[in-house]
Amino acid sequence: MTERLASDTAGLARAAEILANGGLVAMPTETVYGLAADACDDLAVARIYAAKGRPSFNPLIVHFPAQAIAQRYVRFNDDALRLAAAFWPGPLTLVLPLEQGAKISRLVTAGLDTLAVRVPDHPVAQGLIARFGGPIAAPSANPSGRISPTTADHVMAGLNGRIEAVVDGGACPVGLESTIVACDSAGPARLLREGGIPAEAIEACLGTALARPAGGAAAVVAPGMLESHYAPKGQLRLNAETVLQGEVLLGFGHVQGATINLSPAGDLVEAAARLFGALHQFDQMGAAKIAVSPIPEKGLGRAINDRLRRAAAPRG
Ligand code: TXA
Ligand code: MG
Repeated sequence: MTERLASDTAGLARAAEILANGGLVAMPTETVYGLAADACDDLAVARIYAAKGRPSFNPLIVHFPAQAIAQRYVRFNDDALRLAAAFWPGPLTLVLPLEQGAKISRLVTAGLDTLAVRVPDHPVAQGLIARFGGPIAAPSANPSGRISPTTADHVMAGLNGRIEAVVDGGACPVGLESTIVACDSAGPARLLREGGIPAEAIEACLGTALARPAGGAAAVVAPGMLESHYAPKGQLRLNAETVLQGEVLLGFGHVQGATINLSPAGDLVEAAARLFGALHQFDQMGAAKIAVSPIPEKGLGRAINDRLRRAAAPRG
């Protein structure tokens, strides 16, 4: 059975104890719930892959309390220093070269010589990292290929009985995973995944354009970013201007007849925060066909569209 813990002192103490014993705890972050384990414990990390049913070549993000601690594990170049200063704590993950001898489980990096690191901006995640006292590996707390969880109920719907506990910290304010940027000295900084920080803001901070994968941001670059991902049970039809028979509508902006509207006001931040919750709701309703209103391809809209394209991709 999976324990549901409050995000108070006693709950965090229990969660830290579970982590120290090699167990798995889902924790809220500002982006989505993460499935946390001791990043230095091979067995604990292996249990993450098992609980998620995740292909083992897909590396994990490691969460730190502050940049100063992360610097013991990875090397920051000038771009990385600038981005960390501007956006940490917050929904930005940096892929950086591993320091030799860093005691991170090799399962975390799936054999790569880089490590994805992030400093979350959430009091519960920070409280748990502080109590545990070491780096925490945490992918999104969903079964592999399913929708990322933004509430403790979402976590339970996917992983109940497969993990030791979930700390209930309410709904995640950003609601989309972090933006991933590689600063691994193999040339200019590269955008690996759109996410909670718009690419424009990162480019403004760096003063140059980010390198992007050939084929645009929808191309698969981060290992394990499989085409069919974030998949709800129903079939999605994107950029729908009308609703066909048998479809429900996931609306955006001023549209009529939406079953769920991500943001009637057309606010992309609000839409991002609601996206995964809406897809979960359609799953619960048993919606088979979901039409989705067009979402503008700018700011967080790009990350929303990236997730929607993956959710709509043909299933293998
Ligand atoms: O917001 C987030 O980033 C959430 C919260 C829990 O922190 N975590 C998250 O983790 O979304 P996950 O595992 O679902 O996605 C991590 C992505 C994967 O696509 C993985 O392939 C990529 O990061 N990744 C991890 N390490 C990498 C590396 N060394 N090089 C390139 N991509 C990497
Ligand atoms: Mg994920």
